[in-house]
Parts: sequence; C-alpha cells; structure tokens
Amino acid sequence: MNSIVILTGAGISAESGVPTFRASDGLWCGHRVEDVATPEGFEANPALVQDFYNERRRQLREVAPNAAHRALARLGVEWPGDVLVVTQNVDDLHDRAHAEVPETEGFGLIHMHGELLKARCTETGQVCDWRDDIRPDTVSPFSDDATLRPHIVWFGEMPLAMHVIERALAKCSLFVSIGTSGNVYPAAGFVSAARRAGAHTVELNLEPSLGQSLFEERHYGPATEIVPAFVERLLSR
Ligand code: APR
Repeated sequence: MNSIVILTGAGISAESGVPTFRASDGLWCGHRVEDVATPEGFEANPALVQDFYNERRRQLREVAPNAAHRALARLGVEWPGDVLVVTQNVDDLHDRAHAEVPETEGFGLIHMHGELLKARCTETGQVCDWRDDIRPDTVSPFSDDATLRPHIVWFGEMPLAMHVIERALAKCSLFVSIGTSGNVYPAAGFVSAARRAGAHTVELNLEPSLGQSLFEERHYGPATEIVPAFVERLLSR
C-alpha cells in the first residue's frame, strides 16, 4: 500500500500558541540565532542558551495539540499504508496527539531537530527525558563530572535520523509539507527527493513557502482548517 511522508514545521503548532521562527513576532526576531542556537553560542554563554530553552520548555505546559496534529494522528491510524511524520518542531504536540490514538503499526514520528523535553549529556552524548529547567550546574545523570545540554540540533549540527528519513522519502508515494517556510535544509530539500521517487507532492501552509513551485498540489490557510480537510479527502477516496 502507498506510504506517506509528512514534513511539519512551526506553522502546524502556531494555532496552539507556540511561536514560529520567521514571522514578524517570531523567535528569531527576539533572539540572534548565533547566540542561542549554535554550539558556539552555547560555549560562549551556556546560561543564556539554557534560559532560552528553559523558557520554551516551560511554555509547553501551557499549550496543547490542535486539530491539525490530531488529523495527522487519525491519518496514521486509518491509512492502510505506512505514515511517517518528520517534524522540524521540538515541541511535543505531535507526540501528545499520537498518544491519544491507538499504537499503530507503520505509523512513525521523527523529531529531526531534537526535542525540548529531552536533555543530552555533554560528556557521553546520551539522551534522557527532561521536563525541568537545565542550569549550567545541573549534573548529568550519565556522568558525575558532566552537565546537560538541550537535546536540540543547533545550526551547524547534523539533523537526526537522516538515513531513516531518506529511505522513507525514496519509497513514498505521497509527500506532504505542512507549516514550514522552506528556509532550512535538509528539510527544505525533502520535496525534491520525494519528486525523484515519483511521489505526489502537496504543500499545506498559511502562505506559499520558498519552495512552493516544487509542489504539484498546494492549499493555503490555517493548518487547523486545511489539514483536517486534506486528511478527510485522502481517507474518503
Ligand atoms: N497554519 C499553517 N501554516 C502556518 C500557520 C498556520 N496557522 N502560521 C504560520 N504558518 C507558516 C508560515 O507561513 C511559515 O511558512 O508556517 C511557516 C513557519 O516558518 P518558520 O517560522 O520559518 O518555521 P519553520 O519552517 O518550521 O523553520 C524551520 O528553522 O530556525 C530553524 O530549527 C528551526 O525547525 C526550525 C527551522
């Protein structure tokens, strides 16, 4: 049966109240990327970087999945083939929406840019669940003389699970990109890999992204409206 790969970005969580990055009130308007989202920035000022992610981690307690996250969870359960959600987002809204539906064979979720609710040992690289603040003197559970960093992929670092993602793109018959501006690679190049695999390509976004011309099908509007409508059409074919 046909497999589906779905790429999501900050736009799918916007209506849940999670800020996007490049909107006029986005995260990158209040902070310099170099200061808070690079290994060099962390090296130079660990307290500043930890605070930036502590604030975003705390904010997750105030937000909830929206109809778009839930529509993708429904698709994962009801679609007869494999469904892989690859998110650039570090929030846990997809995870929570998936937890609301039955565990389903062939329904996967990959956080290619890491997760706010995980921390990584600065010594061993091991990763653990982490819901509290991380301070520069927080001791790693994996090594007494090490601390923790956010389990976030910073600029200049390799995104996670790229081999799994590339294999899924090479065999998918449908690729859907939701809520992403197409500014950041390798995610922005996934549509080209899907086209090479002969997949049908769909963009669901508030407005046309940088890569909009690469998509055969495009629907624009708020994710909580256009994503459930798209899933409904797909499942009722
Ligand atoms: N519904 C659908 N799309 C929306 C909505 C909404 N309610 N609100 C905003 N969008 C769209 C915007 O039009 C924009 O195209 O979501 C996209 C958000 O773009 P960015 O802010 O650039 O976020 P994203 O594409 O996820 O950024 C990619 O860049 O900084 C890095 O690691 C960070 O994962 C992030 C990556």
